[in-house]
Amino acid sequence: MTITSHAELRNVAEMLLLKLQKKSSAIVCALSGDLGAGKTAFVKEIGRLLGVQEEITSPTFVIMKSYPVSQHSFVRTLTHIDAYRIEDADEMRVLGFQSLCADSTRLICIEWPERIPHILPHDAFHIHIQLNLDGTRTITW
Ligand SMILES: Nc1ncnc2c1ncn2[C@@H]1O[C@H](COP(=O)(O)OP(=O)(O)OP(=O)(O)O)[C@@H](O)[C@H]1O
Ligand SMILES: [Mg+2]
Repeated sequence: MTITSHAELRNVAEMLLLKLQKKSSAIVCALSGDLGAGKTAFVKEIGRLLGVQEEITSPTFVIMKSYPVSQHSFVRTLTHIDAYRIEDADEMRVLGFQSLCADSTRLICIEWPERIPHILPHDAFHIHIQLNLDGTRTITW
């Protein structure tokens, strides 16, 4: 679908949240798209919908940030990862990625998932955001 505002981006985030189903491990959402496409903006909308109080900022330099969730039936923690600067999967191991993935109360949103294809769970949601020449954004999943 094609969107033109943050409000519409929030609607897409809401659609994603409605699709989430509890399972025995974390839900991983891989967010691809060029620089400035709106990946962080999308996670910010997810955070607002989940009742995250803290302001969500891009985790480019820290790689990973986690936020307590107050408004969801089973998601208790939102983890936001920016894999842009990850050079090899070992760095994700250092971050404890596998144990985060084992946590069934966690939603993990990953920007630049193409940097770490081998460690993404097979059942990850894949969402692509494309910034069009006319300034609109096309989101596919
Ligand atoms: N749907 C939207 N409508 C209007 N502006 C948007 C939308 N999505 C993102 N933006 C704006 O585009 C800019 C870049 O967005 P954002 O930082 O989310 O990109 P990104 O994909 O995370 O980039 P990076 O790869 O550098 O992390 C921000 O100023 C943001 O507010
Ligand atoms: Mg970003």
